[in-house]
Amino acid sequence: MDATFPALLIRDQVQGSERVDFIRMDEADLMPGDVEVAVHYSSLNYKDALGITGSGRVLRRSPIVGGIDAAGEVIASSDTRFKPGDPVLVTGAGLGEYHHGGFAGRIRVPADWVVPLPAGMDCRQAMILGTAGLTTALILKRFQENQQLPEMGPILVTGASGGVGALTISLLAAQGYEVVGLTGKPEMAPWLRSLGASEVLDRHGLSMGFRPLETARWGGAVDVLGGEVLGWLARTVDDWGNIVVVGLAGGADLRTTVMPFILRGVSLLGVTSANCPLPMRGPLWERLGSDWAIPHLDSILSEEATLSQLPEFSRRMLAGRTWGRILVNPRADT
Ligand SMILES: NC(=O)c1ccc[n+]([C@@H]2O[C@H](COP(=O)([O-])OP(=O)(O)OC[C@H]3O[C@@H](n4cnc5c(N)ncnc54)[C@H](OP(=O)(O)O)[C@@H]3O)[C@@H](O)[C@H]2O)c1
Repeated sequence: MDATFPALLIRDQVQGSERVDFIRMDEADLMPGDVEVAVHYSSLNYKDALGITGSGRVLRRSPIVGGIDAAGEVIASSDTRFKPGDPVLVTGAGLGEYHHGGFAGRIRVPADWVVPLPAGMDCRQAMILGTAGLTTALILKRFQENQQLPEMGPILVTGASGGVGALTISLLAAQGYEVVGLTGKPEMAPWLRSLGASEVLDRHGLSMGFRPLETARWGGAVDVLGGEVLGWLARTVDDWGNIVVVGLAGGADLRTTVMPFILRGVSLLGVTSANCPLPMRGPLWERLGSDWAIPHLDSILSEEATLSQLPEFSRRMLAGRTWGRILVNPRADT
């Protein structure tokens, strides 16, 4: 029996076609850890796309097997919390950044990174969620903790057609919030409405104004873009509203004045799924498998990729030409 498995290796010092290699590894090539997992599915996240293409400095070791997400079955464990056959998942925490990641047939990781799959959730569903799903749960948690109530008005979600955007629209709508999507793909409006958006705005037709405060339109917001859109959100969120700051797909800058914070009591709340405290992860995944289950998972899955397709998918993702979530089957190329 062949004991090797496929993997996507990234050499961070190299740019161009030599940057990514498709190799076969065996157990001895894996990094130290307590739990070895046969990976059934991974997923493609924005951070993976930055690492694969070399467009952003996200890798902290080289060469490294990419993939910040993995779900599969435990093969071996030296930690008593896990036994062979257990279905589990790992997201972030260093996976695919400084520890060989989920774009491989197997991973070996510290036991504290491993989360049991919630009852009723399979590996495929777990990876349609992946890092984007955990982020969506963190967004709702931050909103609830900082008193973002549905009656405060609509929540604007930017990058609406992307992974985090689509999952967030579906979850917040299911939890009783009115949700408005902002997208650069107006042709996706019917799909975004089917996920629960009450209205869909075209990012290209947006008039953002320039005053320190513009007319308040939003009860709160979730932003994956950063840059000038985040500045506009700060000017247009209503009294005591929260803006959860998630990403930088539109830029890393933030220009604002203090006016939204001292005259409207607006709060900027951060989330970092990769550094989500390990003890918080299991309970959040349990909620994603129960009362925070996302109703439209099947229609949020857009495409499935093999390892060898990932460079092309990554380029499309960074150009804003993908939508929803992309599932990765790390064994399909073998
Ligand atoms: N803080 C965290 O814990 C955390 C976790 C996950 C992701 N993130 C970050 O959140 C962002 C989105 O992640 P994702 O997984 O949802 O990525 P994604 O699936 O690629 O979605 C990003 C969406 O943003 C919009 N977009 C893309 N490029 C753009 C550009 N140049 N200018 C303006 N809009 C653009 C597009 O949506 P429309 O066409 O609909 O506008 C795109 O679908 C990334 O920056 C990622 O690193 C952060």
